[in-house]
Amino acid sequence: MNPVRGSHNKKVCTTIRDEFVKVEASNGVKRGPVIAIDGPAGSGKSTLARLLAEKLCFTYIDTGAMYRAVALRAYEQGIDIEDEDSLKNLCSTINLYFTPPPAYPRKGGRKNVGGNQLNSNKIFIDGNDYSEKIRTPFVSRLSSKVSSQKAVRDAMVRLQRLLAAKGSVIMEGRDIGTIVFPDADVKFYIDASPEVRGRRRYAELKEKGENVFLDTIIAEEKARDKQDSTREHAPLKKADDAVLIDTSNMNLEEVLNVMLKTVKERISIGNTCC
Ligand code: DC
Repeated sequence: MNPVRGSHNKKVCTTIRDEFVKVEASNGVKRGPVIAIDGPAGSGKSTLARLLAEKLCFTYIDTGAMYRAVALRAYEQGIDIEDEDSLKNLCSTINLYFTPPPAYPRKGGRKNVGGNQLNSNKIFIDGNDYSEKIRTPFVSRLSSKVSSQKAVRDAMVRLQRLLAAKGSVIMEGRDIGTIVFPDADVKFYIDASPEVRGRRRYAELKEKGENVFLDTIIAEEKARDKQDSTREHAPLKKADDAVLIDTSNMNLEEVLNVMLKTVKERISIGNTCC
C-alpha cells in the first residue's frame, strides 16, 4: 500500500485505494473505491460527504457544483437553457476542473490526482473561478433546469467517471448510486423533511448576508426537488441498495457516525488518516 498525502492536514495517510483498484466491466477504466452519496437539496449531504472524506482520507467530489458551473456559464454566454445543441456544444468546449489540480485527461496528457486534492472544492471553467458565484438561489434554479438536459448529463457523467478513475472518492449528487456508479462500494441516500431542509438552507443564506425568506426558500426547495425527481433523464431517486438516512432529527455527528460504521462494515478500511 502506498502512502497518500492528505492535503488538508499534511499528514501522510495510508488508504485502501491501491487495494481496491479494480477494472470496471463496463468501460475498462481502473478505479479505487467509490462511496456514493445522493439525496435532495438541503439534506446535509455536502457537509457529510466532506467530513466523511476527511475522516477516510478520500477525495470529495461535489457533482452539483459541476452542474451549477455549467448552468452559470451557459447563462453568461446567453445560451437558451432549452437549447440542447448549444448546451452540448458548450459542454464539449469548456475546460471544467476542480483545483488543485485538474484531475482528468486534458489536451497534452493526463494530470495526476492524489488523496484529497479535490477537497478544496474550488471549481473552475476555462481558468475562471466559479466556486462562490454558483451558490445563489438563482443558480440553484438554473442548474436544476440545465441538469435535466441529456447532453449536459452525458458530459458531466463522463467527466465524473474520469475524476474517479484514480484514487478513492466520495462523490455526492443526485444520480451517483443509480447512474454514475451503480457498482459503488457503498451508497448512501441522505434525506430530511422539506421543512428541515428549508430551514438549513435559510440559515446558510442568512449567514452569508442574503436577504431571504423562509417560506420562499422552502417553496423553492420543493420546486427543485420536484424538477430533480420527475425529470426524464437520471431523476433523483434512492438506489435499491443505498443505505437511507433521514437526518431530520439527527445532528451531524450522529449521522457521520452511522456513515462511518456502515463504510467500515462494507469495505475494509485498514488505516485511515484519522
Ligand atoms: O447539489 P446541488 O444543489 O448543488 O445541485 C444543483 C443542481 O444540480 C440540482 O438541482 C440537481 C443537479 N444535480 C444533478 O442533476 N445531478 C447531480 N449528480 C448533482 C446535481
